[in-house]
Amino acid sequence: MNLIKTMQHTNIWLIFTTFATAFTTQIKGMGIFSFKTKKAQGLSDFSALKTDIHSHLIPGIDDGSQDMDTSLLLLQELQNLGYRKVITTPHVKNEVFPNDVNKLEDLANNVRKAAAQKGLAIEIEVGAEHLVDEDFHKRISEGLFKTFGDNYLLIELPFMYVPFGVNEYLFDLQCKNYKVILAHPERYLYWAEDKRQFADLKDRGIIFQSNINSFTGYYGRQEYNLVKWFAENNMIEMLGSDTHGIRHIEVLHKALSSPLLAGLVNSGKIINNQF
Ligand SMILES: [Fe+2]
Repeated sequence: MNLIKTMQHTNIWLIFTTFATAFTTQIKGMGIFSFKTKKAQGLSDFSALKTDIHSHLIPGIDDGSQDMDTSLLLLQELQNLGYRKVITTPHVKNEVFPNDVNKLEDLANNVRKAAAQKGLAIEIEVGAEHLVDEDFHKRISEGLFKTFGDNYLLIELPFMYVPFGVNEYLFDLQCKNYKVILAHPERYLYWAEDKRQFADLKDRGIIFQSNINSFTGYYGRQEYNLVKWFAENNMIEMLGSDTHGIRHIEVLHKALSSPLLAGLVNSGKIINNQF
């Protein structure tokens, strides 16, 4: 009797395992597991973004490209990566790079002409990356900004300390109808421990522009952790290459294989392609 019972159990087990194997094979064949495979994939290029929002391609005026040949090389590389347009954003810092925002359009025209002569199809718009420094209140009152698109204004904060009055400055800018973009928020590590400041800025409508290269750990582990947190909490609306030189192009190629970045680019939440 026991032997018959054992045989019956064995048969039931055999039938079950055979059925389970067949079922699993069938599901795999139907591609139900292909979602996981796709999620792990990266990007082939950045064409889905269309426009790069942040770079330093006007020669000789900041710590980016130092000559026209380098600017053209970088533009060619960005075009090869799938971009159809760049918004180049030279530093405007009173002490270090005291660039006159009223002269940037003429300087950009020189780059446009050289790019056209070289046969580059990539479009060039110019904005600026304005540092919130000690004279920022004067800059606000005099309107000394170079915006792009429909009054978008790119600002950056110091890396080492929270600038005095930053929240008031941002509020003032919004009251003056600037659409304020915060450059690479993942690099402001003084807010990394207590992230409420980031959440407050988002609540107040500040646009976060993260650097693509932060997704590779290029700037450091803490910057990577922060950009990951922003991405997971849907806080990033713009992505920038922040290209200063060929070293950044090399990292952009590495970033293509980041599943986290690919997921963000394909999420439909990034507005680069509206520019
Ligand atoms: Fe920059």
